[in-house]
Amino acid sequence: MFHGSIPAPLRSIIYEHAGAWPETDIYVGCSGNFTIERVLHSRCGNSRPVHGNDIQAYSCALGWYLAGDPLPFTLREDHEEELGWLAPYLEDRSDLLATLMLGTRFLQYVGKEGVDYRRMTAATRDQWPRMHEKTATKLKALETRLGSFFAGDVRDYLDQVPPEAPVVMSPRSTRWTIRRSSRASTPRSTGRRRASTS
Ligand SMILES: C[S@@+](CC[C@H](N)C(=O)[O-])C[C@H]1O[C@@H](n2cnc3c(N)ncnc32)[C@H](O)[C@@H]1O
Repeated sequence: MFHGSIPAPLRSIIYEHAGAWPETDIYVGCSGNFTIERVLHSRCGNSRPVHGNDIQAYSCALGWYLAGDPLPFTLREDHEEELGWLAPYLEDRSDLLATLMLGTRFLQYVGKEGVDYRRMTAATRDQWPRMHEKTATKLKALETRLGSFFAGDVRDYLDQVPPEAPVVMSPRSTRWTIRRSSRASTPRSTGRRRASTS
């Protein structure tokens, strides 16, 4: 249901460490897919408030949802003609969020000319009731709740966190880190090869 996530070993480390943190509220920055929040929920249940943060629309929608805040999203008038069929799926907040989540798969094709774009939009519409019900049902079953959600830059968020409170975040994906490390190792291996042939 959620795009991406942090890897299992990191989830286990967070789960273990959380047991040793001071018993205050916990603050998560750059929440992304809220994997850390879900790990913390599996460790502490709802006994310790967990606060989340992110800056991009998809994660903010999830964050507001989990914090019980209103979801400030409506269909724009200039998209009524193409997307008006979504109206029944925007009323209830779980339905609205499921629509936003599934929308990340096809909204980029809407309004574009071309057989493939039209075909993809038509196929999505055909499969929509089944896909939407599946996602909305999973959302309704989610037990993770946030004490609050801060939509904005993590640096402003951290300014508001009490100094003694535990803060946890994994802002960059492991794949990104691995790619960066392998690029960084290239000059060193080139140097070794040169040394061995001279
Ligand atoms: C790799 S994801 C984090 C995954 C997350 N730890 C999880 O458990 O699913 C990185 C996230 O950092 C967010 N982000 C990037 N820059 C940010 C900033 N300045 N303030 C807040 N969030 C930011 C992105 O929007 C993205 O959702």
